[in-house]
Amino acid sequence: MLSKNIEHALNNQIRIEAESSQTYLSMASWAETHGLEGISKFMYAQSDEERTHMLKLVKYINERGGHARVSELKAPKTSYETFKEMFEELYKHEIFVSDSINELVHISFSEKDYATHNFLQWYVAEQIEEEAQAKLILDKINLIGDDKGGLYLFDRDIQQLTLNSATSKGSK
Ligand code: FEO
Repeated sequence: MLSKNIEHALNNQIRIEAESSQTYLSMASWAETHGLEGISKFMYAQSDEERTHMLKLVKYINERGGHARVSELKAPKTSYETFKEMFEELYKHEIFVSDSINELVHISFSEKDYATHNFLQWYVAEQIEEEAQAKLILDKINLIGDDKGGLYLFDRDIQQLTLNSATSKGSK
């Protein structure tokens, strides 16, 4: 059985994952309307992934005798100056999510809720991957600079990244 404190903290994480999903959906839509097909596919896939992160928490809370709550969400930004700014925001957002997961791990440990502590390890590993991926993408964007040909190739390559990541996650 979850303590009220842990249930509350996990429910807060449900909201964060749901807001992440909405944020990336908004980025996908912006990219799609700016001719950035590959980037938009990548963002749609990220948005779907965040929804699975959220659902995993919903199932866990309910399984442990708590009540997963679906709450109101903050509206995400709908436009971006540049695609670089968009990816900078994605990277910052993932760091924020990692901090939030770390805080949850800390709470579960201090309350000696080792089941939740164990459950959260999946998120810890996932955040390492997500941060590394976002950093890699930003490094590539910085390499491209203002080169239009570079952007064309980047938009094509990131589509490949989406496909690879879907394949490797599917086989996990
Ligand atoms: Fe579910 Fe990208 O954090």
